[in-house]
Amino acid sequence: MAMDTKSPMSEPGLPRLLSQRSGVPAFRVMDVMEEAARREAAGDSVIHMEVGQPGTPAPRAALEAVAQALTTQRLGYTTALGLPALRERIARHYQEWYGAYVDPNQVVVTAGSSAGFVLSFLALFDVGAKVVLPSPGYPCYRHILTALGQVPYVARTDADSRWMPTAAQLDAAAADGAEGLLIASPANPTGTMLDAARLAEIAQACRRNRMWLISDEIYHGLTYEAPAETALSVAPEAIVINSFSKYFSMTGWRIGWLIVPPQLVRPIERLAQNLYISPPGVSQVAALAAFEARDELEANKQVYRANRDLLLNELPKAGFRKIVPADGAFYLYVDVSDLTSDSAAFCRQMLADTGIAATSGLDFDEERGHQFMRFSYAGTTAEMAEAAKRLRAWSNLKG
Ligand SMILES: Cc1ncc(COP(=O)(O)O)c(C=O)c1O
Repeated sequence: MAMDTKSPMSEPGLPRLLSQRSGVPAFRVMDVMEEAARREAAGDSVIHMEVGQPGTPAPRAALEAVAQALTTQRLGYTTALGLPALRERIARHYQEWYGAYVDPNQVVVTAGSSAGFVLSFLALFDVGAKVVLPSPGYPCYRHILTALGQVPYVARTDADSRWMPTAAQLDAAAADGAEGLLIASPANPTGTMLDAARLAEIAQACRRNRMWLISDEIYHGLTYEAPAETALSVAPEAIVINSFSKYFSMTGWRIGWLIVPPQLVRPIERLAQNLYISPPGVSQVAALAAFEARDELEANKQVYRANRDLLLNELPKAGFRKIVPADGAFYLYVDVSDLTSDSAAFCRQMLADTGIAATSGLDFDEERGHQFMRFSYAGTTAEMAEAAKRLRAWSNLKG
C-alpha cells in the first residue's frame, strides 16, 4: 500500500519515529480539490466534479434557526449523545421515511458520519479485527480502520454482482475470521443500490456468521429509481450510519447520526464523551430545522436528477462510454480503460486541459482503480452542460 507520509528518518528534529498508523494514505479526492483550488486561484475556470458535496448551501430553514440561536442560545456543549429534541426528530424520520420504529434512545448524534465510523469501529472491533469492505468503496472506511489498527478485508465486486458483495463472499470472509461488514447503498463511487431481497440476504449472511452489519446510509434520499431500504428493516441489530452532509446539503456543518442497538448506546456514549465531548451545538440546531426543509431539499434532488440525465446522455459523446449503471447518490463511475491505463494521470491532464476536476478510481479501488474515474454531478445543471461541452471539445482534439 502506498504510504505518503515522509519517512520519519527524513524529518530531522523529531525525537522519535512517527506512529505506523499515521501512515494512512491520503484521501486523494482532497488532494485533487487542492490542485483545483490552486488553479482557480491562478484564474482558471474550474468545474468541480471531484468532490461529493452539494453545490447548494444548508437549507434556508436551517440557516434561519441558526441565525436565531446565535442571539438567543448559549450554544455550549450538549450531552455526548446529542440534543434530545434532535434525537427524537431523527427517530421520527425513520417512521416518516421507512415506516420503521426507532427508539430515540438508540440515536447517537455525531460530528458527521466520519465520527460515526470512528465511534462504531472502536465500539465493535478490537485491534487486528478484520472488517469486510466491498471494493470499489469509500476510501476512508479503509483508512479509518487502518488508523485504528483494524484490518480492511477487501471483497472485490463487479458488474455481475451489481457492485455489491454476495452472501458467498461473506461466508468465505467469515470463515477467514472477519467480524463485520460495512455496506453502503446507494454506494460511493458506483451509485448502485441493494434491493430489499439482496439486503435481506446480506443481513442473513451476517447473522449466520455472527458478523456485525454496518450500513452507511448517507446517500438515502438521493435515489432516482426506487427509494432505499434501511438495513434496520431487515436487521434491527445493524448499526446504521447517516449524515446531514448529502441529502440535507450540510457538508461543512459536520453533523450526522448513528442508530445502534440498545446495548451499544452506553459504550458509544463513553467513547463519544472522551473523544469529542459533544457533537457541534450550532450544527445540531441547524440539523433539527433541516428536517422541515423537505421542499427545498427535493428541489435540490431534482437538479441532481437533471444533471444525471444530462451526463448519461453527453458523456458517451465525449468518449466516456462505459458508465456503471447508478441508481442513486450523485456520482457516475466510469470505466476508462479504453482511454487510458493510468486514470490518475488522465484526471490530472483533464484538469489541466479542460478545467474539469474529477477523481481517479484509485481512491476507491486500489487494484482496478487505475482504469476507472468518478464524476460527481452535485453542482448546477449549467456547470454540467459546460463540462459536457468542454469534454466533447477535448475528445475531438485528442481525436
Ligand atoms: C459513502 C460515504 N460515507 C461517508 C462520507 C463522509 O461524510 P460526512 O460528511 O458525514 O462525514 C462520505 C463523503 O463523501 C461518503 O461518500
